[in-house]
Amino acid sequence: MMADRNRVLLLGGTGRTGLRVLEQLLQRGVAVRAIVRARARLPEQLLAAPGLTIVEADLLTLGEEALRAQVRGCAAVISCLGHTISLKGIFGPPHDLVTAATGRLCAAIRSAQPDRPVRFILMSSVSVNHPGVPEPRRSGLDSLVLRLLRAMVPPARDNQRAADYLHRVVGTHDPHVEWVVVRPDTLLTGEPSPYVLHETIASSLFKPDSSNMANVAGLMCDLVSCDETWHAWAGKLPVIVNARPRSPEAAGTERQ
Ligand SMILES: NC(=O)c1ccc[n+]([C@@H]2O[C@H](COP(=O)([O-])OP(=O)(O)OC[C@H]3O[C@@H](n4cnc5c(N)ncnc54)[C@H](OP(=O)(O)O)[C@@H]3O)[C@@H](O)[C@H]2O)c1
Repeated sequence: MMADRNRVLLLGGTGRTGLRVLEQLLQRGVAVRAIVRARARLPEQLLAAPGLTIVEADLLTLGEEALRAQVRGCAAVISCLGHTISLKGIFGPPHDLVTAATGRLCAAIRSAQPDRPVRFILMSSVSVNHPGVPEPRRSGLDSLVLRLLRAMVPPARDNQRAADYLHRVVGTHDPHVEWVVVRPDTLLTGEPSPYVLHETIASSLFKPDSSNMANVAGLMCDLVSCDETWHAWAGKLPVIVNARPRSPEAAGTERQ
């Protein structure tokens, strides 16, 4: 089936960043199919937006054929899933929300046999290491703290496993799925602003950068609609941080 270059399947669209992605996609005239647990969590003025199809379902138990039907015809899948920040959300099931959803969606894309690769865009975190690539700015102390976090806090482990899955299992030669893992630092509200993309971690856990959610959403939308941006980052894990005003040492690519 021919994928509509202007249609995206969105997961986590009721979340803080996911909602910004949803708004920006609709503003750009992209049709969005959003799988949500509860449509009431979306702002009322969005519910009737032309171009938005809401599917109320549990992503992890949705049948394979039903999931394949949601993927069919979409040129991209964006996941902004995250564990709810509460004791139950962090330590309760599903511990593997992001990894399981990533695996299910990639399997659904493959079995839908799209005529060209579907772009899978995963929201992740700077706590995630680039599998198979050294992170020269990750200190020994940072690595130790992250290892402990992954051992004790399921969402930290889940985010790393989802990135590992894309890198190691899907890889970069899959005829049906291509991917980018977007790694923001501390998420902030705020307007779109200039930002910098780095190939690897740019700062310490103990001196974090910040990433406006509006910028993360803007990058994810560009990855859908701009081939140049896609080809620059496909198969990679860009770190996105707000540009520091007049920072002479900013080494990455600054974008508005
Ligand atoms: N907080 C930070 O500073 C930070 C920094 C960098 C990266 N990140 C990462 O960025 C990602 C998104 O963060 P965010 O703060 O924008 O997310 P968020 O506001 O917590 O939203 C999470 C989304 O995931 C959905 N979700 C949660 N549990 C689910 C489940 N069991 N089944 C289906 N959907 C479920 C939520 O749906 P409901 O509305 O139905 O609950 C919501 O749409 C996370 O992976 C996080 O680790 C966070």
